[in-house]
Amino acid sequence: MLEDDFGREVSGVRVSLTDRCNFDCVYCHNEGLGDTRGPMDPQDDEMSADDVVRFLEVVSEFGVRKVKFTGGEPMLRDDLEEIIERTPGSMEVSLTTNGTFLPGRAEALKEAGLERVNVSQDALDPDAFAEITKSGAYDKVIEGVEAALDAGLDPVKLNMVVFEHTAGYVEGMVDHVAENSGLQLQLIEYMPELTGRPEWNIDIERVHNWLEEKADRVETRDMHNRRRYYVGQGMVEIVDPVENPHFCANCHRVRVTHEGYLKGCLNRNDDLRPMGEMTRDDIREAFRETVENRVPYYGEYMIKEGDEWVVNDEYIDAPVTHS
Ligand code: 5AD
Repeated sequence: MLEDDFGREVSGVRVSLTDRCNFDCVYCHNEGLGDTRGPMDPQDDEMSADDVVRFLEVVSEFGVRKVKFTGGEPMLRDDLEEIIERTPGSMEVSLTTNGTFLPGRAEALKEAGLERVNVSQDALDPDAFAEITKSGAYDKVIEGVEAALDAGLDPVKLNMVVFEHTAGYVEGMVDHVAENSGLQLQLIEYMPELTGRPEWNIDIERVHNWLEEKADRVETRDMHNRRRYYVGQGMVEIVDPVENPHFCANCHRVRVTHEGYLKGCLNRNDDLRPMGEMTRDDIREAFRETVENRVPYYGEYMIKEGDEWVVNDEYIDAPVTHS
């Protein structure tokens, strides 16, 4: 496996297959590119299935064993099944989706080799859901989760972004996974860096404390220092990356944008490397360079000055070279 200068091995990749989406979630960072929701028709700038597969074959040579497909909404790609089918057998495949297209398609995805799915579900309340996602597809999402469970894609992880609009629905979602087997909940701290609405932040520590009280059992995984809260039949994790150097120290993934740019950090867009017309050798080299230039965002790229996080001077005048 390739390792960066901070001892972080790259064991996974997160590949965006499109930035199109049938939702327009108010919080969306669009994989770090900002909200660029565009037309729904297939776009020329999206990586082809061949490009995606070639990239995955190359990184599998470096021992990358996990791929997560994401978007936009990755299920807007008609060739998603084909891409999964052609993913190297050594890689575990998962998918992050809004769930609306899972009914009728979950089984084919499972058959193609999909192992796990994350479904974004930010509230159990249809009105709140519509408000947050700018969509009325609540029933379809619930159906989609069912379809995934029926297809054997369990446990289904529900992604809930915790911010001002959803804080009141955390308890309901926790009860929901406690009452239904096969479901897990990821409470994801709202990341304001790329959405420009810091006023929506909530104090994630309060959610930790509340869950601590509520859970039947709490487990800390040493390696990630991330707590797992067991509630009834379900499990809840809190993903809290904001201003968290431990989170960055445990980051083992490289991203690829829908246009085929390597991206070493969700929060940065100054380290993109295009893979456009590249040969396998070029991709190998670009991937090596991306890994070599990876820098933990909090604690290194951003450092504390008193109470404030500021960009480390070291990185201001030293843009990475594009080959
Ligand atoms: N903060 C936290 N999580 C976000 N996601 C999207 N935008 C944000 C944000 N601003 C997460 C959602 C979605 C996944 C693709 O990314 O949980 O499920």
